[in-house]
Amino acid sequence: MSAGIHIEDSPVFIGPLSDSLSVWLRSKNFSAVFVLSDNNTNRYCFSYLPKSLEDYAPVHSFVIEPGESRKNLDTCAIIWSEMKNAGLDRKALVVNLGGGVIGDMGGFCAVTWKRGVEFIQIPTTLLAMTDAAIGGKTGVDFDGIKNAVGVIRQPAAVFTDPFFLKTLPDRELRSGMAEIFKHAAISGELSSGWINSLARFESSEPDWIEILTRSVSVKTDIVRKDPEEKGVRMLLNMGHTIGHAIESVFIDSSHPLTHGEAIAVGMICESYIAQLHKITVPDKDLLTDYLLKIFELPQLSGELTETLWHLMLQDKKNASGNVRITLPDAPRSMRVLNISRSDLERGLEYYNSLI
Ligand code: GLY
Repeated sequence: MSAGIHIEDSPVFIGPLSDSLSVWLRSKNFSAVFVLSDNNTNRYCFSYLPKSLEDYAPVHSFVIEPGESRKNLDTCAIIWSEMKNAGLDRKALVVNLGGGVIGDMGGFCAVTWKRGVEFIQIPTTLLAMTDAAIGGKTGVDFDGIKNAVGVIRQPAAVFTDPFFLKTLPDRELRSGMAEIFKHAAISGELSSGWINSLARFESSEPDWIEILTRSVSVKTDIVRKDPEEKGVRMLLNMGHTIGHAIESVFIDSSHPLTHGEAIAVGMICESYIAQLHKITVPDKDLLTDYLLKIFELPQLSGELTETLWHLMLQDKKNASGNVRITLPDAPRSMRVLNISRSDLERGLEYYNSLI
């Protein structure tokens, strides 16, 4: 169990849940526990929660359908109704057992219920373990815009147990790796042994405790400095300006991309665009090599450029009508770059030349 990682007084425990969660609960006094899961995490993960949960407070379980399409205010209304039916008061604890959708939406429902009850994240996907569950971003999609409505509020704690990784399909596991490579790129650790062992995960079981501890530490260090994302936290959006647009374009296609795949494309394109602007992302070529090795990525038709550009104009990081990307020019040092439609075209050309 590792609790050396904190944002304010929000600890991240990495290790078996049976150690960390029971000990943590023993030090608290909640009136009730409300566990939010989806059909998948209810089926594969719920029974792994410590049996002792009921010793600390009555447990209410609520299960929703899985998927990003459910991450909206309609589902929140259903969750709030369930909280009401369960008689959840302000001393209750909401437990989000799942990936990014459950964590973001369950967190949002918790911080808005009766003006805020405590919540914990128990991420069950690699993506949520390394990124979504950390840093307190909560919210839902609205009117076609991802995460348009939400607040930043740190969870009472995050409990990360690599055991859950065994429940994931291969493609979902790889999806989370993009954010781990991103954290390594941001912190200048792409040449480190731990990232090398991740890249070789097909031949030997990686040490997930070490990988997650290192990856999460990069994120918590940055979030501690800038919890509200007014400055350096934007560095965590490396690859996401183009990546989110690509994810949106493919979402309704017959071959939707995972978040990690889309962000991998985004990181390859954006670090090349940075180079066009004389900004050197440390170990750019190594990063590109890793991403091409881990992910099976599609060719992107030039006809997509217009749609992608239109979507990028909606990006939350934009300022004064400029489309912005954020990248490291040295370990943990952020550069913000305004890019043009022609930069996007050249980035996509470069990317296609590698596929
Ligand atoms: N996913 C990036 C952040 O939490 O800031």
